[in-house]
Amino acid sequence: MDLGIGGETALVVGASEGIGYESAKALLEEGAEVMICSRSADKLKAAAVALEAATGCKVRYFAADVTRAEDVAKLQAWVAQEAPALDILVSAVGGSQRALFGELDDAAWYANYEFNVMGTVRTIRATLEPLKKSARGGRIVILGAAGPRMPYPHQLVSNVHKAGLIALVKTLGAEFQPFNIRVNSVSPGRTMTSLWTKRIAALSKERGVPESELVHEFSHEIPLGRFGRPEEIAPMVVFLASHKTSYVTCQSVLVDGGIARGLV
Ligand SMILES: NC(=O)c1ccc[n+]([C@@H]2O[C@H](COP(=O)([O-])OP(=O)(O)OC[C@H]3O[C@@H](n4cnc5c(N)ncnc54)[C@H](OP(=O)(O)O)[C@@H]3O)[C@@H](O)[C@H]2O)c1
Repeated sequence: MDLGIGGETALVVGASEGIGYESAKALLEEGAEVMICSRSADKLKAAAVALEAATGCKVRYFAADVTRAEDVAKLQAWVAQEAPALDILVSAVGGSQRALFGELDDAAWYANYEFNVMGTVRTIRATLEPLKKSARGGRIVILGAAGPRMPYPHQLVSNVHKAGLIALVKTLGAEFQPFNIRVNSVSPGRTMTSLWTKRIAALSKERGVPESELVHEFSHEIPLGRFGRPEEIAPMVVFLASHKTSYVTCQSVLVDGGIARGLV
């Protein structure tokens, strides 16, 4: 299937590893010109080299922490110069803090809000003008999470804040229609990236059980019986960013191995 995005320009934020990296790779494989962003210039450089080696395409990168408004202002200036007309924005920054309600003070709540919500809000604001200039209509794809559809225990902050992203997608999809910009999100379930390898290593130490036992425990309640891989999330990101989904906006699509059991 030709997704029709060959030659289009995409920015993937949170692309030095994990789902963002795989999304950047999948976009490159479809012929898009891809720019990547994350906090660490070293990680970005390594990611750009790996992406170029894997796809034979040039990858431009810019280091910015989207929880810092001043960094995003610099990102905005860079994008305006590199891609005055931007076709695709993917925002893949976010995560959770494993904690119970009583362990979370105001600072913890606000820090996660910056990470999960404001980072994406700032990134969209910084790229809105170039997205408006996309010849065939801009597309925004945000990485949400399955959590809001089936709130996980111990994941309070991300359950709440990722639910906010679903509302953001619903609202912006309508608000940006006059600019011919579609807005959707992909909601992954448990996906084996550094987010989980770090969490499992920490839990293994805390509980004194082997990591393999924890992987088994967390896989048990997933209907497909295993964690997802980042390259299994990326195709949905690219599909929603493509012209094959021209009648899809305001949607949050689960790619979760079936873990969110709700009917809606
Ligand atoms: N993995 C899962 O099980 C899972 C489940 C549900 C939802 N998700 C969502 O999917 C998205 C990607 O998750 P992932 O598992 O791929 O994460 P990951 O492996 O931890 O990768 C996160 C990426 O974001 C960058 N990043 C982190 N903080 C940033 C910041 N403040 N500003 C700019 N870049 C930043 C990181 O690079 P630097 O270190 O260089 O900044 C890295 O490239 C997130 O929104 C996450 O909430 C993941």
